[in-house]
Amino acid sequence: MIEQGYLSIRSVVDSSLMVVAADPVLMPSFAVLLAELPGNTTGFTELSKNVTDFFAFNAGSANHIYEGMSMHDTHNPTDNPRMTGLATNAQMDAFIADVVTGAQQNAVPDAIIAQFGALMESLRTTIVQG
Ligand code: HEM
Repeated sequence: MIEQGYLSIRSVVDSSLMVVAADPVLMPSFAVLLAELPGNTTGFTELSKNVTDFFAFNAGSANHIYEGMSMHDTHNPTDNPRMTGLATNAQMDAFIADVVTGAQQNAVPDAIIAQFGALMESLRTTIVQG
């Protein structure tokens, strides 16, 4: 059985991805994914699962192992053709803000949001490679 905590993270991730998809700062980087929708949701579902696994795994879940690419390679267009260009600091700011919005839409307590914010901030230099 999938635990409630994992389902909560998945809800936050799905909400956040909707905010990202409508964010003009981030939209260009997700061009491949957005071009597939609404006809083909396979990429969206896989991204939702992988980002959820990533957060659950990094939050200490023993039951969910992140099996996607490394954070460096995922965000490097050479290794990941679904990433159309290198991420900028402004995009990183926008991504974190959008995840906070997605969490707030799901009534996640501020103290928990702060922990995920710190996790994302710790990845800035790995993800922003330009
Ligand atoms: C701490 C912040 C971030 C985290 C934790 C994160 C996490 C992830 C994860 C787990 C994946 C899936 C990897 C896989 O499937 O193997 C992914 C894919 C991706 N990320 Fe990020 N990401 C972050 C920031 C960003 C930013 C700032 C951008 C944009 C500039 C971005 C753009 C993308 C794109 C375009 C993909 C591929 C989407 C697709 O499958 O079509 N990410 N990210």
